[in-house]
Amino acid sequence: MTLDELEAFGAAIGRAAAASLPCVITLGGDLGAGKTTLTRAIGRGFGVVESVTSPTFALAHEYHAAGTATLFHLDLYRINGPHELANIGWDVLDDANGLVVIEWPDRAGHLIPADALAITLAHVDGDETRRRVVW
Ligand SMILES: Nc1ncnc2c1ncn2[C@@H]1O[C@H](COP(=O)(O)OP(=O)(O)OP(=O)(O)O)[C@@H](O)[C@H]1O
Ligand SMILES: [Mg+2]
Repeated sequence: MTLDELEAFGAAIGRAAAASLPCVITLGGDLGAGKTTLTRAIGRGFGVVESVTSPTFALAHEYHAAGTATLFHLDLYRINGPHELANIGWDVLDDANGLVVIEWPDRAGHLIPADALAITLAHVDGDETRRRVVW
């Protein structure tokens, strides 16, 4: 997908998620693959008005959409394993009106719900403008 295509894809996912909460989406893929870019597009489709930024240093960011709908954006890059997640806001998964988007889901291992929508982004050799998207 081009950047435009990825953004349209994300916005469509965000719109769909708004009608089927709660929802958990995992975004796998290397550094710079486009996980935060896709999260931002999902947020736009979900109805988030604020700008979605990279939570690398905060672990989790929370954005409000319509009514009580909330986007929780988690970036687990700095987590070393599920044991570090015990007391770090993992309860957001229980929010009935929550859309939870998780970058670096491998870090959470078995704590990722089995019914999460798994999306993986990958660079395309020789073309920095495109990404392969598997879901
Ligand atoms: N087709 C594309 N899809 C997604 N991103 C693209 C595309 N083409 C170029 N880019 C650029 O690649 C970069 C992706 O960065 P982004 O922060 O979204 O990656 P990330 O996977 O979140 O990285 P990190 O693991 O460091 O959090 C952005 O600067 C974006 O504009
Ligand atoms: Mg990121």
